[in-house]
Amino acid sequence: MTVRLRKTVPAKAIPITLVDPTSFPALADRLPAHTRRWLGAVGFTGAADTHVLLPDDQGSMAQVVAGISHVGDPYALSALPTGLPAGAYTLAGDGLMLDPAQAVLSWQMGAYGFDRYKPRRRPSAELCLPTSASARRGLVVAQAITLARDLINTPAEHMGPEELADAVQTLARQHGARVRQVVGDQLLKKNFPAIHAVGRASTRAPRLIELLWGKPSHPLVSIVGKGVCFDSGGLDIKGADGMRLMKKDMGGAANALGLAAMVMALKLPLRLQLLIPAVENAIAGNAYRPGDVIRTRKGLHIEIGNTDAEGRVILSDALAYAAESTPELIIDLATLTGAARVALGPQLPALFCRAMDTGRALVDLGLVHGDPLWHMPLWGPYRAGIESSVGDIVNTGRNPMAGAINAALFLEYFVPPQQDWLHVDLFGWNDNARPGRPVGGEAQGMRTLLAYLEQRFGSARATV
Ligand code: BES
Ligand code: ZN
Ligand code: ZN
Repeated sequence: MTVRLRKTVPAKAIPITLVDPTSFPALADRLPAHTRRWLGAVGFTGAADTHVLLPDDQGSMAQVVAGISHVGDPYALSALPTGLPAGAYTLAGDGLMLDPAQAVLSWQMGAYGFDRYKPRRRPSAELCLPTSASARRGLVVAQAITLARDLINTPAEHMGPEELADAVQTLARQHGARVRQVVGDQLLKKNFPAIHAVGRASTRAPRLIELLWGKPSHPLVSIVGKGVCFDSGGLDIKGADGMRLMKKDMGGAANALGLAAMVMALKLPLRLQLLIPAVENAIAGNAYRPGDVIRTRKGLHIEIGNTDAEGRVILSDALAYAAESTPELIIDLATLTGAARVALGPQLPALFCRAMDTGRALVDLGLVHGDPLWHMPLWGPYRAGIESSVGDIVNTGRNPMAGAINAALFLEYFVPPQQDWLHVDLFGWNDNARPGRPVGGEAQGMRTLLAYLEQRFGSARATV
């Protein structure tokens, strides 16, 4: 971590004064004339993600003035950790004030890089802040996002179903949670036939990973994440372009782990069941085929229209299992459809839920937290499009339109009518770099869902 929380900030830490284009002129008026001239000479206006270094009369660095877009921006400071010379910095009291959680999160995001195979070019600058509950919360959130990104960025060779289970075990050890797994042919014995069918062609055994945490007296929340460690498409093989990024098809699982990590670290007053159906959608002689009809845990029969629509097949067993404990809420997270990306692009995960007011509340919450979700409809009439003549439902829509809705409607079959349920279809990846968001794996919706859980089940305030 490149943020250090201390009782007292070391005196040598260089102060960073935060401004925006509106507040900058007033600040500039209070500065010595030669500093004002210097700021003018370098063309500094307080624009977001720009900064100026100011020396003292000895030529040592004395101060930084940095522009931010607004104080609510979760990436406000993200350009600084790699933009500033290495060293220790702190936030000055004479500019715009950021909530410590926001400052910590945005700094850590700016310092993030996936360095498992290739070392960073240079160390990040360090931010020193006084210890506070808010700053600690920022670190918890940053650690969870870092975990999700690292899991997604790790190539499938080093992040198979077993390694994903190891990541859950590690998390469980950190927070005193229990982990159970149903692996390989045990999936058939324990009645998870759909997870087995999708994962059986891989040399790496499919599994259902389950983490349990919390006090029995607290309300139960179940978080389910699609853990397709690599999606080749199966026998309906993807083309080269479509397959290129499919190491990220466990992005739902990665985000589910990140959300679970925050819930446990912040000790939310709820009981948690994290469920990860983890498989590799591979090709072999025993692969499941187009036209196969698969019995699911719930007893419904799925006709396989396309082996590349594997996410909804494994989620069907995981959702049915989650519902058996009648939790207060089920949340599933999945890189489920290309169609959700066609509809909303990479930055907006699609949110599906049965109650209109829940959808609207989550959209609002997402906008407040700078971690958006966009509400899409579980449009009942389209159910006709996923009816099957040989089974109960088919895993591809009869027509190519509304693919994200078809997938959500498919999942809905496995969630009992009275069960409260949120389904998030996310991309889990940044195609383009922005401050704090390098190209690669991305956490999406995690902070908003944390805020929702806090709001609904009670606990601390939420600023990030
Ligand atoms: N993992 C993909 C969905 C995906 C693709 C998410 C690209 C993000 C980016 C999923 O398993 C899939 O291949 N879905 C198919 C379904 C189709 C065959 C009905 C799709 O969306 O094309
Ligand atoms: Zn697929
Ligand atoms: Zn997939």
